[in-house]
Amino acid sequence: NHKIDYKGHHQAGVITKEQKNVSFVTFNVTANSLDELKDLFKIITNRIAYLTQPQKLPVNSNDKMPPFESGMLGEHLDPDSLTVTVSLGSSLFDFRFGLKHLKPRHLVAMTSFPNDRLDSDWCGGDIALQICANSPESVVYALRDILQHTSLYLAPHWKIDGFLPSRDIDHKSTPVNLFGFKDGTGNAPADNTDLMNELVWVTDSDKEPTWCRGGSYQAVRLIRFNLEFWDRTPLEDQENDFGRHKVTGAPLGMKHEHDSPEYEKDPHGDRILFNSHMRRAEPRNPERYTAKLRRRSYSYSLGINESGMLDMGLIFISYQKNLKTGFINTQKRLNGEPLERYIKPFGGGYYFVLPGVINDGEYLGEVLF
Ligand code: HEM
Repeated sequence: NHKIDYKGHHQAGVITKEQKNVSFVTFNVTANSLDELKDLFKIITNRIAYLTQPQKLPVNSNDKMPPFESGMLGEHLDPDSLTVTVSLGSSLFDFRFGLKHLKPRHLVAMTSFPNDRLDSDWCGGDIALQICANSPESVVYALRDILQHTSLYLAPHWKIDGFLPSRDIDHKSTPVNLFGFKDGTGNAPADNTDLMNELVWVTDSDKEPTWCRGGSYQAVRLIRFNLEFWDRTPLEDQENDFGRHKVTGAPLGMKHEHDSPEYEKDPHGDRILFNSHMRRAEPRNPERYTAKLRRRSYSYSLGINESGMLDMGLIFISYQKNLKTGFINTQKRLNGEPLERYIKPFGGGYYFVLPGVINDGEYLGEVLF
């Protein structure tokens, strides 16, 4: 019955240890005025406050009325480490609400990279919710609750569900992605507050509208994998594409997952190819964190495509205080990587995670008005 406080200088769900399940859902706002938009933010905040606490669920006394809630969870709501992280797309700052002058400096609609085949049905959205918990039913319950309370103001745009390996119940080991590689080994440690202020959170020293302090940019990429092709690829090629051993997650030529790749001793890329995903993404030169971001990705599994192939892949999510020095520059270093033979980004977007609320009675987004 674990609960994660939704309150704080920052929203939960950004540097929070990954729960096992996610729904990433985007919406277009149908509110017709600034007052309705405020109302929407208040309702969302109230629902988050309610859903992240243990609750005895209401009993329906009038059988001529729809039940108060979905009934999925029985009599009690167990928060199950639920976090609901609210972020805004650049389209919310268009002419409709007069918020243009408040737009975070780097917030734009996501544009295509060379290997992308973006489908507009899977891109953008005025508002995004990243709903995470340790079971799919907790996530779905929260989503249905929020939809029920916000249907006047929100029209769903796209949604994708993700998961992490559930066997690792103590959450101690690095999750394995659908390529079978540990994903997150080189991630910036979330418990290092100075580092998180340097990489993830907008702080006083960033040239952003004042309201952005405590927020973060969120880059989301829906990346389809060609698993049939991957599963016919020799292990050596798979390992060279990432720069790590498949089973241990250790840098090539090393024993342990968290051994340093020591690029200075491999200046010609003999052991870990310059073309490998990890060396391109994070050359550790001149600084350890050249990629100024923190990743928080999930696997997805949707169905079978029209060619009879698995529609599976990665919901890549990264958080950064600056979209350019974070996601965009890192993706530019990855453009043309050998791994591209097996991956096809088809959706996602850039969003700005609202700063947190600290006191009862405050609502997410209040800083905007
Ligand atoms: C590292 C997988 C996309 C940035 C890694 C690692 C794996 C991996 C297995 C090595 C273990 C680790 O350090 O976590 C994937 C897959 C992707 C993908 C399967 C999708 C096809 C991306 C994208 C970015 C990115 C889009 C950012 C633009 C990074 C960074 C590292 C990394 C910064 C850390 C390297 C290090 O510190 O040594 N990725 N990744 N990855 N990836 Fe990705």
